[in-house]
Amino acid sequence: MFKRTLITSALPYANGPVHIGHLAGVYVPADIYARYLRLKGEEVMFVGGSDEHGVPITIKARNEGVTPQDIVDRYHKMIKESFEELGISFDVYGRTTSKTHHKNASDFFRKLYDKGEFIEKTSEQLYDEEAGEFLADRYVVGTCPHCGKDGAYGDQCEACGTSLSPSDLINPKSKLSGSTPVLKETSHWYLPLDKWEPKLRQWILEEHKEWRPNVYGQCKSWLDMGLQPRAVSRDLKWGIPVPVDGAEGKVLYVWFDAPIGYISNTIDATPEWEKWWKDKDTRMIHFIGKDNIVFHCIVFPAMLLAHGEYNLPDNVPANEFLNLEDDKISTSRNWAVWLHEYLRELPGKQDVLRYVLTANAPETKDNNFTWKDFQARNNSELVAILGNFINRATVLIHKYYGGMIPAAGELTEADKEMMKEVKESINSLSSNLDNFKFREGLKDAMNVARIGNKYLADTEPWKLIKTDPVRTATILNLAVQLCANLAVIFEPFTPFMAAKLAEQLRLKVLKWDMTGKFDLVPDGIEIGQPELLFEKVEDAVVEAQVKKLEDAKQKNILENWQPNAVKETVDFPTFEKMDIRVGKVLECEKVPKADKLLKFKIDDGMGGRTIVSGIAKYYNPEDLLGKDVCFIANFAPRKLKGVESQGMILSAQDSDGRLVVIGPTGEVRPGSSVG
Ligand code: MF3
Ligand code: ZN
Repeated sequence: MFKRTLITSALPYANGPVHIGHLAGVYVPADIYARYLRLKGEEVMFVGGSDEHGVPITIKARNEGVTPQDIVDRYHKMIKESFEELGISFDVYGRTTSKTHHKNASDFFRKLYDKGEFIEKTSEQLYDEEAGEFLADRYVVGTCPHCGKDGAYGDQCEACGTSLSPSDLINPKSKLSGSTPVLKETSHWYLPLDKWEPKLRQWILEEHKEWRPNVYGQCKSWLDMGLQPRAVSRDLKWGIPVPVDGAEGKVLYVWFDAPIGYISNTIDATPEWEKWWKDKDTRMIHFIGKDNIVFHCIVFPAMLLAHGEYNLPDNVPANEFLNLEDDKISTSRNWAVWLHEYLRELPGKQDVLRYVLTANAPETKDNNFTWKDFQARNNSELVAILGNFINRATVLIHKYYGGMIPAAGELTEADKEMMKEVKESINSLSSNLDNFKFREGLKDAMNVARIGNKYLADTEPWKLIKTDPVRTATILNLAVQLCANLAVIFEPFTPFMAAKLAEQLRLKVLKWDMTGKFDLVPDGIEIGQPELLFEKVEDAVVEAQVKKLEDAKQKNILENWQPNAVKETVDFPTFEKMDIRVGKVLECEKVPKADKLLKFKIDDGMGGRTIVSGIAKYYNPEDLLGKDVCFIANFAPRKLKGVESQGMILSAQDSDGRLVVIGPTGEVRPGSSVG
C-alpha cells in the first residue's frame, strides 16, 4: 500500500497560452484527481510548471525581436495566472528556467555522465556557416517536395501537412542568415534506451497491465520496434548548458531537462522533496496528453533507472486529443479556445468549462468540443438538473422554515430507497475516480442530483406542506442532506459551486467520508440564502464564440495564402491546343437542385452554346447578364445535373476560395480567339 501520491501534469511550453485541448487532456483531470485524494484525506503533492526551453521558444523570440527569456516570462505568468483562475490546485507551479532546476537538471546529467550511462556519438547536422550555428530542423526552410509551396520547415510543411526531414527540402535555406546550410560533424551524448529495454518491458508489459489500453498499446509498440539510443544534447544557445568540459555551445535537449523539472519543482515546494520521489510507499501518477506517452513511459523512466535513486510512475493516464468544432485544435491556425480569453469573455464560468471538458473528456478516443454542446450541457444539465435541485430544496427550506433545517421524522421505504441509490452512485463515482475514469465519474455525480430531482418530484413536498407537515419536514431535511452530498462529490469537478454550496449549508470542511451520509447538516441550524449556482448561457454568447472562431479561420487563410506553385513548362503548340474564346452571357440561371451550379447561354459568335459553371455561390445570375467572359470552346462536353455543358467558363480563385469570372478588359466580338 502507498502512503502518499505525487501527481504531475505535463509542463506546458511557455511559448503560448493554454487552450481547452491542454485542459481536457491534462490539467482538468489531474486537478479532479488531486482534489479527490485531498478530500479522502490522503497526502498529495500536485506538481505543475512551465516548460521553458526548446526551439519553438527561440523562434518566437526571433520573430518578435525579443529574447527567449522575455517570451517565457510573458507566457509563464499568463499560464500560471489562468490556471489559478480556473481553480487548478497545484501545490507548486514552477518553471524550468529556475535556479533550482538549472542545478538539479545539471546534477542529474552529471550523475549519469559520471556513471558512464551515456554514449558519445558523432553525426552530421545542418550548419549555417555565416551565422556559425548548427540548425534545428525548424530553422531550415525551403520548398516542399510534395506540394511545391515555399516556406516549408525542415520538419514539416504546414501548407500540406507532410512530415519532412531537412534533407527533403528543395533549395533549403537557413532562417538565421538565409544562406544554404551545409552538413557538419558534431558530437552528442546519447542515452542507450536499448540497455533498459528488458527492464522497461518487464515493468510495463508485465507489471502494469492495468494501464489504459491506449497507453499500454503505445508502449508495447515502441518496445516491440526495439529501442535505440536517444540524443540528450543539442547544439543550441537556449537551454541548460551541458555540464561537461568541452561541451561549449551544447545544451540539454528539452525533453531531457523538462521531466526533471517535476523533481526540481518538488524541491522548490518542500525540503522533504525526497520522500516524494524516493520513498517506496510514494506512488507517482503522470497526467499527460497522448503525444507525451513515449517520453513519460519510456524515456523518462529510462533516465530514472539510469540515475538509480528514483521511483518509476505507478500510472500514466494519458488522454487522447480534443477537437474543436470538428476540426483539429491548432495554435498556428488560431483554431482554439484560449483559456485566458475564455476567463475574460465568460467571467465566472470556470465550473462550466471544467464540467463540459470532463463530460467530453477524450479518455479513450479523440473527442469534440462544440459551443452548442457547451450551451446544452450548461442549460440542460448544470442549470436544469444540478442547480435546479439545489435551488428547489434550499428555497423550500427558506419558504417553509425561515431557513432553519427541520428535524427529520421516521423514514419511509421511499426515503430509504433514495438514500440507497445515492450511496450506490457515490460508490460507483469513487471507483471511477480511483480508476481515472473521470467522465464516467461525473455521470455518477450528476446522477445523484437526478435522484434528488426525482425524489422531490415523487414526494411533492410543496403539496404535502398543507396536509402533512411532519412528512414534509423529513423530505426537506433529506433533500438538504442530499445537497450536502453534492457539495462534497462535486468539489473535484466544480469547486467554485461546491465552495458556495458548502458555505450556504454551513459545512465547515468537505471530506469524502461525509458522502453517503444524511446527517451532515444538523437540525435547527439556519442555512444561507439560496444563491444562483448556475446561469443559463444565452444563444448570443455561443454565437459570438462561434463567430470569433470563424473569423480567426478566415484571417488565417488570408494571411497564409500563397499562389500555387507554377506547373510544368509547356510549349506553344501545347498551349495552342486550348481553344479559348470570348463570349457574351445571354442568359444565366440557377440549375435546380444544385446549389453550386449556374447555367449559361453564351453568344459564342457561332450560334450559341450552353455552359454550366460551378460559381453559383459567388454570383447572382442577373449580375452576369450581358457580361463578356472567356471560355474554353473545345472542352469535351459533359453532363452536370442533367444539363450538357459545352465548354468551360474561366474564373480565377481568390485566397478565400471565391471564384471570379475572367473576361476581356475592352470591347471584343463574341467568338474572338484568345491567345
Ligand atoms: N512541454 C511538453 C508538451 O507540451 C510537455 C513536457 S512534460 C515534461 O508537450 F515532462 F517534460 F515536463
Ligand atoms: Zn507541402
